[in-house]
Amino acid sequence: MFSGIQPTGDFHLGNLLGAVDNWVPLQDTHDAYYCVVDLHAATVPWDPAALRREVLSMTALLIACGLDPERSILFVQSHVPYHSELCWILTCIARMGELRRMVQFKEKSKGESESVGVGLLTYPALQAADVLLYRAHGVPIGEDQRQHIELMRTLAGRFNQTFGPAFVVPEPWIREEGARIRALDNPDEKMSKSTPRPASKILLTDSPTIIAKKIRSAVTDSGREVRAAGDKPAITNLLTIFSLVTKTPIPELEERYEGTGYAAFKVALADAVVDALAPIQKRYEELVSDRGEIERTLADGASRAEAEAGATMADVRAKTGLGPPA
Ligand code: AMP
Ligand code: TRP
Repeated sequence: MFSGIQPTGDFHLGNLLGAVDNWVPLQDTHDAYYCVVDLHAATVPWDPAALRREVLSMTALLIACGLDPERSILFVQSHVPYHSELCWILTCIARMGELRRMVQFKEKSKGESESVGVGLLTYPALQAADVLLYRAHGVPIGEDQRQHIELMRTLAGRFNQTFGPAFVVPEPWIREEGARIRALDNPDEKMSKSTPRPASKILLTDSPTIIAKKIRSAVTDSGREVRAAGDKPAITNLLTIFSLVTKTPIPELEERYEGTGYAAFKVALADAVVDALAPIQKRYEELVSDRGEIERTLADGASRAEAEAGATMADVRAKTGLGPPA
């Protein structure tokens, strides 16, 4: 299996509960590849020195969350050049309409469709290259990535039909609960790295005081019942977070907080989130101070990834008539 995460922006509770928490157990059951996708971060303007820092800090956070470079392959996208090579071939077989239809492209290019970088449009071809290079069967992701995986499946199928079978057609693995954690200040939106409003998200690096403050000011629904329901999107979101960080079923939480009102519920939720993040934060602080060690881990990950990706690329080159003749 394969999954990726962008190094830029704030790593938030949605990333943890919707993606990374699912990645941890897969290390024991699958050949697992986890990639910090810095080339995807280059689809919007970037600062070179900041990008390098963010790659290291994202790697430290992933390890702190439980990814273990001994049990999985943890690497950086741009350290394995085959990603760019396969991306180009997939860009050439993708169709304009397929790329333009992507919700993420439409959202990110809103109002500036002439001046936006072309990388935002071809972004899903790079994402397809990421997964197809490793012939992964499954891609654990949050709900927002479903459309990109669908396109990846289309491109893999089209390549296989045109040039002969080189790729596994991968499946999206989306866990129902936690697949879409919502913004604390607006449950109609997802919690997102690119939202500028600090009150919308809890960062993995937030202090206990900040966490308590953000949860205290989270939007709630009308009424005062702590219950998950279609007409209570805000409380449902908070219950989902509570349930995932404490591994307690929602009905049990509903029972526990019956009649207590929102305020007491929020205090308990803040404590639960602080407790869940404390060991991650501690580990992160230890790891991030040893830059050399992270760099060694990533170099090792890249060389293991490159061996696998190189085998796929040799097949792709042979099938497409590209690269030096064998
Ligand atoms: P990104 O923040 O776009 O780099 O996403 C990294 C991973 O986190 C992807 O698998 C996303 O689907 C997942 N993710 C991002 N935001 C959320 C959210 N609000 N709820 C659940 N999963 C999310
Ligand atoms: N586009 C994904 C996101 O924003 C990140 C990503 C890049 C990814 N390549 C991937 C996810 C390959 C899964 C598989 O979340």
